[in-house]
Amino acid sequence: MTRIMKEFTPTQIVKELDNFIIGQTDAKRAVAIALRNRWRRQQVTNELREEIMPNNIILIGPTGVGKTEIARRLAKLAEAPFIKVEASKFTEVGYVGRDVESMIRDLTDYAVNMVKAERTEEVKNKADEMAEDKILDILIPPVKNTVANSKQAGEQQPNHENEAYQNQKTREWMKSKLKRGELNDKMIEFDAQASPAIGMQILGPLGMDDMGINLQDMLGSIMPKKNKKRKTSISDARQIIANEEAQKLIDMEAVQKEAILRVEQSGIIFIDEIDKVAGSGKSQGPDVSREGVQRDLLPIVEGSNVNTKYGVVHTDHILFIAAGAFHVAKPSDLIPELQGRFPIRVELKSLTEEDFIKILTTPQNALLKQYAALLETEGVNLQFTKDGIRAIAKIATEVNDQVENIGARRLHTILTTLLDETLFDVPDKMPAAKVVVNGKMVEDKLNKIVKNRDLSKFIL
Ligand SMILES: Nc1ncnc2c1ncn2[C@@H]1O[C@H](COP(=O)(O)OP(=O)(O)OP(=O)(O)O)[C@@H](O)[C@H]1O
Ligand SMILES: [Mg+2]
Repeated sequence: MTRIMKEFTPTQIVKELDNFIIGQTDAKRAVAIALRNRWRRQQVTNELREEIMPNNIILIGPTGVGKTEIARRLAKLAEAPFIKVEASKFTEVGYVGRDVESMIRDLTDYAVNMVKAERTEEVKNKADEMAEDKILDILIPPVKNTVANSKQAGEQQPNHENEAYQNQKTREWMKSKLKRGELNDKMIEFDAQASPAIGMQILGPLGMDDMGINLQDMLGSIMPKKNKKRKTSISDARQIIANEEAQKLIDMEAVQKEAILRVEQSGIIFIDEIDKVAGSGKSQGPDVSREGVQRDLLPIVEGSNVNTKYGVVHTDHILFIAAGAFHVAKPSDLIPELQGRFPIRVELKSLTEEDFIKILTTPQNALLKQYAALLETEGVNLQFTKDGIRAIAKIATEVNDQVENIGARRLHTILTTLLDETLFDVPDKMPAAKVVVNGKMVEDKLNKIVKNRDLSKFIL
């Protein structure tokens, strides 16, 4: 049974995203609908299903307001193959640089690894047992029971029966020791598969990306597999051997098939910085290639076949989420065909002081929680008072207004400056203690810098 994706309803998706991202309700709703629509499409049984196209989305908003974060969290939720690419990294076919099709190949690689990891998990118990048996064989090689043979020959060899029996007993005893992990630190020598040593990285000619094959892998499979003696602790050996056994147990062809299916049916590609390839079209130079990138993107977004080393991937139903600040260029500066492929536009809002307060405190990975956890490892109890948090948020808003609006990233720079001394002095000058960050401390530390515009340009 192929599991395409987890079945979150739109409300549940938004709720999950709420755990990490403050505000930006419109964007959350849009991605939730897009994700659910893919599941809905899976349930449509007739020919109509092939006709239902994904709702590609453009997220528009200033820097640091959560565009990438939303996409990242969404992919985790969907348990779907997901990659994030920067549109500005691509160049038109024929230019030096990565061609756009490589994103599909990357996504497929990702999916193959994902499925392989799942399959490995499934055969883990079996592989572990096999590894245990192998190690046991090395520690106490089994004695062949030759009793039957000797009886046939009419000779009397009572020793053998005994020996085989003893061997069996010792092996059982050893096995239980192994199982209990009592031998973990003992060293053992065993045959491990040596990865074929090609000895150098093989760099293809430029544009090798196009071929969708990997010389290194090809040569690797041609070279004879050599075994190499290795000596490690038993617990390490166990893992190495179990890994090898697992590889043998997995049907790689099935894995690749499943991976391609997942890419085609549930893959998500996040194209960041899409505005960077939206040239005005008039000026010379790099713009020529910018529009070229957009043209190259068209067939992929619309649906085409891309060769990968695992097989052909149809891109029709891959969900594309593009994002950009669109400070200079506007979505309307994208070539019209491409605009049409991204029918849903969502604007993300600039973050306010209230948002910052929430961002600092509420998400599961909130910054203040992160710093508290870091210092707790040194026995220091870091606490922020309400007015302390408000002061930080206020300063972040001020600096964003005055210098440059970098959104929530401003909180990072402010906190590192604010906590600089504490982070340095612990543990030498400041052994286990309690540090309380209140409004006064924040102002004492930061006001000078905030008031001085030039200074804050550099420090905050
Ligand atoms: N609304 C938000 N809620 C919680 N955290 C946020 C929010 N917006 C941004 N952040 C935090 O700020 C950082 C930067 O956000 P993100 O990477 O999403 O920015 P972005 O919108 O993609 O910006 P850019 O246009 O520069 O790529 C992340 O660490 C993220 O956790
Ligand atoms: Mg981003």
